[in-house]
Amino acid sequence: KDLVLSGVQPSGNLTLGNYLGALKQWHSMQELYDCYYCIVDLHAITVRQNPKELHNSTLNALALCLALGIDPSKSTLFIQSHVKEHTELAWILNCYTQVGELNRMTQFKDKSAKNSDNINCGLYSYPVLMAADILLYQANQVPVGADQKQHLELSRNIAIRMNNLYGELFQVPNPFIPQKGAKVMSLQDPLRKMSKSDENKNNIIHILDEPKSIVKKIKKSVTDSDNPPNIFYDEQNKPGVSNLLTIFAGVTNKSVSDLEIEYQNKMYGQLKTDTADAVIAFLEPIQKEYLKVREDIEFLNNVMKEGSEKASSKAQHTVHKVKKALGFVV
Ligand code: TYM
Repeated sequence: KDLVLSGVQPSGNLTLGNYLGALKQWHSMQELYDCYYCIVDLHAITVRQNPKELHNSTLNALALCLALGIDPSKSTLFIQSHVKEHTELAWILNCYTQVGELNRMTQFKDKSAKNSDNINCGLYSYPVLMAADILLYQANQVPVGADQKQHLELSRNIAIRMNNLYGELFQVPNPFIPQKGAKVMSLQDPLRKMSKSDENKNNIIHILDEPKSIVKKIKKSVTDSDNPPNIFYDEQNKPGVSNLLTIFAGVTNKSVSDLEIEYQNKMYGQLKTDTADAVIAFLEPIQKEYLKVREDIEFLNNVMKEGSEKASSKAQHTVHKVKKALGFVV
């Protein structure tokens, strides 16, 4: 059985991008594979966090994963910092990662350009901690959005490098990137990725957004000025329309080509109204479930406890093997 690992940064404000790019796959993969999913609070502190908010966001993200259908009886769902082996292995992997490799990471370059007053060492070695998350569990499948492809490539290189030096220490992980939805775009600027941290909230649909705000944001979204309007998928020439089609298909069981036929002679306004309706219908039961789960602290505590126990035993095994191979006295 394949082993799956993935992570999401703590926030109650997960977006449709996070869902379509990653969490949708987390959900479907748990039926087939042995899955480990974590809320990566250690990654979160690479940018400054308000302690109360971080605490809250971590529980929010956990509740949201549960509301999205991650079932703790099928998957191991846990908080990254509860399994101390993540930091332990990350240190070791840091010593097998070249500064030159990290200098090439485009996400680091973007984040440090935006955050020039806090370019800390953690932000720099963020991808190494991510490699530790993955390699600790010997995961071979890693469901992520397209923006994480470069980080995954680094994880693979670190695994291969250490296996060559010390024998088979790690599974070499493969990215699992969906064909559609791997890069959900910003609503007002469909050439850029939809991003949680975007200051213009009209660019983002959050999983917990109210119906009214979803309608408003989708109505305002940028399409194109083709005349007559023409609804088909073409990322390059029609990024706005293509993004709406991706979102529409992603939250229903229609395919993009079904939608292209259905909307052949229709107006953009119609596509927007129907996309908004489909998103709202999809999110409504998830939002209800979220509110219920988020209040049940005892349940959340149980999920975290069981999850970290299960994750720890697997993680300890890998760290022991690695330390022994490197010559630590164990
Ligand atoms: P985070 O929280 O930034 O993103 C979580 C997941 O959502 C995907 N994603 C998107 N997919 C499609 N369209 C978008 N607009 C979009 N925005 C975000 C991301 O690709 C990601 O899969 N570094 C990871 C967290 C992480 C991790 C790991 C993932 C830490 N350790 C180990 C896999 C394995 C991240 O970007 O989280």
